[in-house]
Amino acid sequence: MVRAESGDRERAAEAALRPRRLTEFVGQQVVRNQLSLVLDAAQARGRAPEHVLLSGPPGLGKTTLAMIIAAEIGVPLRITSGPAIQHAGDLAAILSSLEEGEVLFIDEVHRLARPAEEMLYIAMEDFRVDVVVGKGVGATSIPLDLPPFTMVGATTRAGLLPAPLRDRFGFVGHLDYYQPHELHEVVMRSAAQLEVEIAQGAAREIASRSRGTPRIANRLLRRVRDWALVRGSGELDLDAARAALEVYEVDPRGLDRLDRAVLAALCTRFAGGPVGLSTLAVAVGEETETVETMVEPYLVREGFLSRTPRGRIATAQAWEHLGLPAPTPGAAIEPTLGRF
Ligand SMILES: Nc1ncnc2c1ncn2[C@@H]1O[C@H](COP(=O)(O)OP(=O)(O)OP(=O)(O)O)[C@@H](O)[C@H]1O
Ligand SMILES: [Mg+2]
Repeated sequence: MVRAESGDRERAAEAALRPRRLTEFVGQQVVRNQLSLVLDAAQARGRAPEHVLLSGPPGLGKTTLAMIIAAEIGVPLRITSGPAIQHAGDLAAILSSLEEGEVLFIDEVHRLARPAEEMLYIAMEDFRVDVVVGKGVGATSIPLDLPPFTMVGATTRAGLLPAPLRDRFGFVGHLDYYQPHELHEVVMRSAAQLEVEIAQGAAREIASRSRGTPRIANRLLRRVRDWALVRGSGELDLDAARAALEVYEVDPRGLDRLDRAVLAALCTRFAGGPVGLSTLAVAVGEETETVETMVEPYLVREGFLSRTPRGRIATAQAWEHLGLPAPTPGAAIEPTLGRF
């Protein structure tokens, strides 16, 4: 319920809630301003905008912004992704069929295969693609000029992009987690889109449990709406929001059952740590990797857990959140000190 990645079944619901224009896009003031400047300048010069790279964690609006870019300049959008391009030939086919000014969106661009990546460098810089005809010694490469286009890349792992690729983007926008008041606005907007009335308090409650992520906010909104319809009075108020989120085990800070289980194990079974990651994972009956990639990042980001060279430790906030008394610092070593 509170993971930032989206599932296949969620796609349609998400598409319906996507802002279509830059002015409808909530938050990300800095990126929005910069991007609108890039687009306006290109239009003033009558040219295709420079290539744009959008980076940031899942669910913050990269795909949405790519679609908005095409809509703002009024051109068609071609969508593909790094993993979908298996061979350089797949990319050559896409590139050579682009129309003038078109936006080519490559999602997960850090997952492109090397030969495709190299073809993309040339296409982005010189608007040219070298098509190889034939095989073996007889193979020849025929250069093919491409019409100017705008490439928009999205990545959750900007650090994995090779420098030559990164350097070919004229603009890099980094999306960051949203503030609660921005998510509140996302929820209000989505509710209007879904044609449901929602109380301010309920929207605030959903926003504060959504981990700074619009995708999660929209998902929680849909679940609260369902609860209100089936179990509640139909009213989408604060009580309904709280009751629904309790059913889905999303707590006031946006932690789910597994997040809390990890914190509880750390505090109660290992006295707050330090404890090794794999020991902690066994204690909650999960794979080490699941705990490391799905659970820890948010706990660390929110200051519930810290990673130290000796293992994971619970912060004072973790004890407080679980409603447990935190051990007094230094209590364990005091008796020893007293003896000397
Ligand atoms: N700034 C925003 N304002 C309103 N809604 C937003 C905003 N950003 C994202 N959303 C909503 O959140 C959902 C997820 O956004 P999107 O698919 O663009 O994320 P993403 O960054 O591409 O994620 P991923 O890395 O998983 O591909 C969409 O349904 C979109 O409507
Ligand atoms: Mg996306």
